[in-house]
Amino acid sequence: MHYRIAPSILSADFARLGEEVRAVEKAGADLIHFDVMDNHYVPNLTVGPLVCAAIRPHVSVPLDVHLMVRPVDRLVADFAKAGASIISFHPEASDHVERTLSLIREHGCKAGLVFNPATPLVWLDHTLDKLDLVLLMSVNPGFGGQKFIHEVMPKLTRARTLLNERAPRCELEVDGGVDLTTGPIAVAAGADVLVAGTCVFAHPGGPAAGVKALREALKRGPAASV
Ligand code: DX5
Ligand code: ZN
Repeated sequence: MHYRIAPSILSADFARLGEEVRAVEKAGADLIHFDVMDNHYVPNLTVGPLVCAAIRPHVSVPLDVHLMVRPVDRLVADFAKAGASIISFHPEASDHVERTLSLIREHGCKAGLVFNPATPLVWLDHTLDKLDLVLLMSVNPGFGGQKFIHEVMPKLTRARTLLNERAPRCELEVDGGVDLTTGPIAVAAGADVLVAGTCVFAHPGGPAAGVKALREALKRGPAASV
């Protein structure tokens, strides 16, 4: 089965960020997920383009930038310049969703839309041709370490079917509460990319062990008891 692992730096040690991203890349991470929070769209504040540019030379995998900000557009050029490969945003945070998607591609990045657990997939009706990634949140955005909301699973299945039919090249990513139990469930339901913060960076054996443990769990598939 095809899937990629995107460790989220939100749970990394920010004093040793270069070392942390190098460790997860070496352990087989396929992307680095970069959570940007503005204390406005979400009630938390993280990092911006300066930190993105600072980690860029430390890894060669794509940087997957998840913008939890409002407004969105004025940050697109800065993140493209900082080395973002993918830029995703929440549709309700942009006044003109299609314009923002075009802007991201004009800056040479892949474009993604992010769906909170309560955000309906109806946003996909008129945006699929401008999308490289659909990111389904399995927690409400703002914090790492939350519990996976299993109620999003029917939406994940619907999104998989829709993308298979209408946009087979568009990737489907799941973000929030992904661990050794929920990750395999999300992959079995059709996720291509798994974001994992706590599960990777808070692993008792360190982040490299976290990536490897998640990959092993994904190879085994969902536990029979769940
Ligand atoms: C939440 C962020 C997630 C978060 C995931 O708003 O978008 O990327 O870091 O962290 P875990 O894996 O701990 O839920
Ligand atoms: Zn995220």
